[in-house]
Amino acid sequence: MFNKLIKITIMAALVAAFTCDQAMAKANILMGKRLFNSYCAVCHGNDGKGAGPLSAKLQTKNPPADLTGDKYQSKSVDDLLKIIQGYSRADSAMPKWENVIPEGNMRALSEYVLSLTQTDVRLRGDERLGREIFRLSCVACHGPQGDGGGVLAKLLKVKMINYKTKPLTSINDDELIKIITKGKGEFMPGWEGTLASEEVKDVAAYVRSLYKR
Ligand code: HEC
Ligand code: HEC
Repeated sequence: MFNKLIKITIMAALVAAFTCDQAMAKANILMGKRLFNSYCAVCHGNDGKGAGPLSAKLQTKNPPADLTGDKYQSKSVDDLLKIIQGYSRADSAMPKWENVIPEGNMRALSEYVLSLTQTDVRLRGDERLGREIFRLSCVACHGPQGDGGGVLAKLLKVKMINYKTKPLTSINDDELIKIITKGKGEFMPGWEGTLASEEVKDVAAYVRSLYKR
């Protein structure tokens, strides 16, 4: 009895620590995103692809880097932190940020820049908003729990994937967003025009989160 209680307490603590970790990581990235929008987007663009409003006016040899490229995918948060802090090439338009952005915030910023390359839609979309969208637009076929048991799917006699037991690992984030935007096969409607592109990301993040929930 006592042992069981200890086990349950430890399990609960682990679950709490894990969800807390995830929440912290997300809060950090959101802070990083705000910093990025304030300080970096003017050159690198909101999406980090390098086409910010100031970009075309720069007379330097190199344009603002595309931060979404594969090049940064293999870098660690520390690598990026160093690059951002003290970028120093004589002929470069990239400012040094060392004395502008406090050390603690630099880490959040670097995490955000990395999240631009690591295309995890769960970080870019808002699962909670996604859940509402799913309830409004998707349950008729995909079922209230995302298990594929929606009334419409039954009527149409289509075989659906149960998102709770099957991870969508064969579909990467870009494909996921494309399927939701453009539709798929005979019955999956495209939501372009009905959902804004941000909403598509939100609902995609929610769909990703369903596995083993
Ligand atoms: C005034 C325009 C400007 C601003 C503002 C700016 N950058 Fe840059 N950034 C550049 C340019 C230009 C380059 C390309 C540098 C080069 O190759 O000479 C660059 C390159 C980079 C690189 C790539 C370095 C490499 O070695 O590949 C990173 C990472 C980066 N910037 C991050 C940031 C972050 C984070 C911010 C905001 C804190 C920021 N930049 C703000 C212009 C800017
Ligand atoms: C009218 C029924 C219907 C509605 C409504 C619907 N879907 Fe689908 N969806 C389908 C069917 C059927 C498939 C399987 C398509 C295929 O593989 O041919 C599918 C496939 C998908 C896929 C690809 C992975 C898979 O399960 O095969 C995603 C992701 C998806 N739907 C998301 C959504 C989202 C998000 C919404 C709401 C915004 C939505 N669907 C609304 C019927 C529907």
